[in-house]
Amino acid sequence: MAKLCVIGTGYVGLVTGTCFADMGHRVTCLDINEERISMLKNGIMPIYEPGLKQIVDQNVEAGRLDFTTSYPEALKDSEFAFIAVGTPSNDDGEADMQYVKAASSSIAKNLDHPIIIVNKSTVPVGTGDWVAEIIHDLNGQVTPQFSVVSNPEFLREGSAVMDFMKPDRVVLGSTDSDAANRVAELYQALRSDIMITDLRTAEMIKYASNAFLATRISFINEMANICETLGADVREVARGMGMDKRIGPAFLDAGLGWGGSCFPKDVKALAHMAVTHDTHPQLLQAVMDINFNQRKHAVDKLEKALGDLKGKTIGVLGLSFKPNTDDTRYSPSLDIINMLVAKGATVQGYDPQAMKTSKEEVPELNLCQNPYDVAQDADALLLATEWNEFKSLDFDRIKANMRGNVVLDGRNIWNGEELQEMGFFYFGMGIPGSL
Ligand code: NAD
Ligand code: UGA
Repeated sequence: MAKLCVIGTGYVGLVTGTCFADMGHRVTCLDINEERISMLKNGIMPIYEPGLKQIVDQNVEAGRLDFTTSYPEALKDSEFAFIAVGTPSNDDGEADMQYVKAASSSIAKNLDHPIIIVNKSTVPVGTGDWVAEIIHDLNGQVTPQFSVVSNPEFLREGSAVMDFMKPDRVVLGSTDSDAANRVAELYQALRSDIMITDLRTAEMIKYASNAFLATRISFINEMANICETLGADVREVARGMGMDKRIGPAFLDAGLGWGGSCFPKDVKALAHMAVTHDTHPQLLQAVMDINFNQRKHAVDKLEKALGDLKGKTIGVLGLSFKPNTDDTRYSPSLDIINMLVAKGATVQGYDPQAMKTSKEEVPELNLCQNPYDVAQDADALLLATEWNEFKSLDFDRIKANMRGNVVLDGRNIWNGEELQEMGFFYFGMGIPGSL
């Protein structure tokens, strides 16, 4: 069993550290956010991720997992240091590397024994070499032996623990094959395919994978918009396409487009890398444009159904960027709410986990305690995030509470025919009659 530390206790770091501890390793998770570490020490999860708390508790109790804000404490005896800090977007779309730089510098300053540095953050191609330079520069002649391995993470929020424990593949990149093999050993227990390649290729695999998934979604949203004009049903189109084994059914759900802490920033960062290296990323640009237009398309539909939105009340179900997470970063729901507010509408919303951050991001949003309060006096209801609890609502109660009868099903989860029969003016995304 190995001793390792994980730097950053967000969605990736906390899940990585906890899952390695659960596989029997001794793990210290480190964060510079004192409040976060103090919460974790007190058994409180700083993020909502299904199933995570239980495994954290079990491994803390078993003495395999602890938390600290101290680099010397985290690095002590660690054979591996995983970097899992954020890489958000700069204004021009470039990945902001200040947190990776700070984490690498802190490792360098506190390194007193050989170590393998494993980069799990999603970082521009070439970052592995840059991290190695930072560590050499800071330590000069006395640098203990170290290697850098890229190990991009492919987990999804909402199913992060399962994704980590049952990955489709583990990708490792390094110029030091011994180091890559030692990281591979950490993952051996998962019995998944392990691919070892060079550093830059591993870093690129991560961006290419996220960009491809975002492309599939933008593609199906473009098909949805064409379906609307031609009277076809995009849900059936996606089903029919997905039966082709070369295409497959995943990531073909049309709706309000992709959001979250990764697709938006990663597609932008990849496009930025391309432009700064004299390549024109025309497909990536189209993928981003379609995604932005999908939000506008939803607002246009509401405007078409309600007329001028000024003074109208719109209820929004779901605020997080996808179900089963409290993450609201680049949430399609909040983007649309901002557009509605800008047009003079009053917006009231509810989410099972993301109320606090949503209110911080959009102060004009009025929070409700449940879906029925969201419907109260609303001229229209928008389903923005498909949480399970929205899938079978009491629509008699919703109808009685609403002032109007417009329902925009932004994720195509409801039975439109039934709702029409009940007297709602129902429309979805890419469904006949949805224009
Ligand atoms: P996050 O914002 O949830 O967490 C990052 C954490 O790092 C924060 O707690 C922050 O306080 C901490 N941190 C920042 N600087 C630090 C430093 N110098 N030392 C120690 N801790 C520091 O981020 P996340 O969503 O977990 O994403 C982390 C990385 O993983 C990103 O590059 C992201 O693109 C990538 N990724 C994320 C997901 C996901 O689903 N969220 C999936 C795959 C890959
Ligand atoms: C995504 C990838 O799926 C992960 O593999 C990757 O590790 C992660 O980004 C990352 O790099 O952070 P995540 O953002 O958690 O994971 O969530 P997804 O399930 O991929 O959904 C992303 C967005 O696409 C959501 O807004 C979701 O509503 C939307 N989506 C997804 C669709 O609109 N249609 C679909 O068919 C699928």
